[in-house]
Amino acid sequence: MMLVKLGGSVITDKVRYRTFREEVLSRLVDEITSAQKEIILVHGAGSFGHIIAAQHQLQHGFSDISQIAGVAKVMEDVRELDLKVLKVLNLGGLPSVSLPPSAVASLRCGELDDLNVEMFRRYLELGMCPVTFGDVVLDRERRFGICSGDQLMERLAREFRPERVIFCSDVDGVFTADPARDPDAELIETVSRETLDALPRTKRCADVTGSIFGKLETMMRIASWGGDAIVLNGGIPGRLEAALRGETVVGSKVVSGTV
Ligand code: IPE
Repeated sequence: MMLVKLGGSVITDKVRYRTFREEVLSRLVDEITSAQKEIILVHGAGSFGHIIAAQHQLQHGFSDISQIAGVAKVMEDVRELDLKVLKVLNLGGLPSVSLPPSAVASLRCGELDDLNVEMFRRYLELGMCPVTFGDVVLDRERRFGICSGDQLMERLAREFRPERVIFCSDVDGVFTADPARDPDAELIETVSRETLDALPRTKRCADVTGSIFGKLETMMRIASWGGDAIVLNGGIPGRLEAALRGETVVGSKVVSGTV
């Protein structure tokens, strides 16, 4: 089984509120269907989630009743994005079912607490592709919080021990320096604890669920339980499909058994 996250920066324009990239998603779905693998799919929220979540400071949990309208709006928007994703998947020939975190997950102090994994398992057994996504969910301490796609990836990887865990991003992977500013920046093909600790910490655009460093820490934990974890550029045709087929692709990989 393969576990794939389509990042919000790939399937939406992250800086323009609710801008869906339908052609990119259709192409990625074609790549998924041609690889013919059993899949659990997670997608990010992109501009359907982050912009309003940041305006209402939803990532820190409840502080004011005025946030509740923001909670409902983000839930509505990410469901709308999810429905668009689901339609493309079903149309592409991959029968899919949506499992919204607001209904099947809850947090405790911002950490993923409950997730109805049984539901994912049973839909997989039925021959369907379970789809879940970054959402606002209940938090036992903070009343609500943001459950990111990466938190879901980590839990699903721990439960299902997939062959490969693939994160589709809008960059080729992790670089030694910011490639937009430094022409000598090099792609790190294999990430180890040492390379991760040595990376310069910079922050790109507003994101309520953390940066590439958080993702790499997640990938380190995932690779320590089993399959390789890889981050690749989902904007470049063919890379996701190659990764699903088990081929070597341009990207940054945390190799299982090395952490
Ligand atoms: C964010 O999920 C969820 C909300 C802001 C509601 P992700 O962190 O997985 O989304 P992307 O991939 O960064 O867009």
